[in-house]
Amino acid sequence: MIFDSHAHYDSEEFDADRERLLGEVLPEKGVVGVVNMASDMESLEKTVELCEKYDYIYGAVGIHPECAADLPEDWLHRVEALLAHPKIVAVGEIGLDYHWEELCPRERQKEVFRLQLDLAARHNLPVVIHDREAHGDMMDILRETKPKGVVHCFSGSAETARETVKLGLYIGLGGVVTFKNARHSLEVAASVPLDRLLTETDAPYMAPVPFRGKRCDSSLIPLAAQKIAEARGISTEDVLRAGCENARRLFGIS
Ligand code: NI
Repeated sequence: MIFDSHAHYDSEEFDADRERLLGEVLPEKGVVGVVNMASDMESLEKTVELCEKYDYIYGAVGIHPECAADLPEDWLHRVEALLAHPKIVAVGEIGLDYHWEELCPRERQKEVFRLQLDLAARHNLPVVIHDREAHGDMMDILRETKPKGVVHCFSGSAETARETVKLGLYIGLGGVVTFKNARHSLEVAASVPLDRLLTETDAPYMAPVPFRGKRCDSSLIPLAAQKIAEARGISTEDVLRAGCENARRLFGIS
């Protein structure tokens, strides 16, 4: 029972074998749900196509901060138009990425992020948030706007995780918990309430050890779940079950 709350199966990394992987391999390996993330204008439609082709795939539509610099004038309307689709369950992947600010300046990132937070609130949908090297500005915006949703690939401290949970958000954890320098992530994994934890990959990126640096897919989630389980002193199955139940609750998937 594997639920991947965050993947990018529209990525060209999957062009060679997407049908077999999504149609056969993942279901055979116990993947029961995936939320595919859009990130740029092109991936909006591709995400909808994946949702329509595979029963267990749902989608989030939105513009990633790395891709927020040069958008067509009607970008927000085009995102909004897709929210009516029954399998689009969130606005994402949206947020702030100051590691890549040369791709899009901070002020523009904040503007595009806030517009999408507002869009999600108006449609009563959760958001999937990306926060890289932007914890201060991110927490300011989350305190102010109080969205429902998840901070994916959570990279803050255990204390920031506590505040994030208090604000009503979920915490997404994936392959990073298996990395050598994962002390912070493991503290977060150990301390977050089990009913606020989402399992995820960020496929094709963030493959867990021993596949670090290789292409990632949802079937590798148990490797991260095992590390989270060890940190909490519970079983891997408990973590996978919680990841599944929590994602269904947050995204309104029955
Ligand atoms: Ni992502």
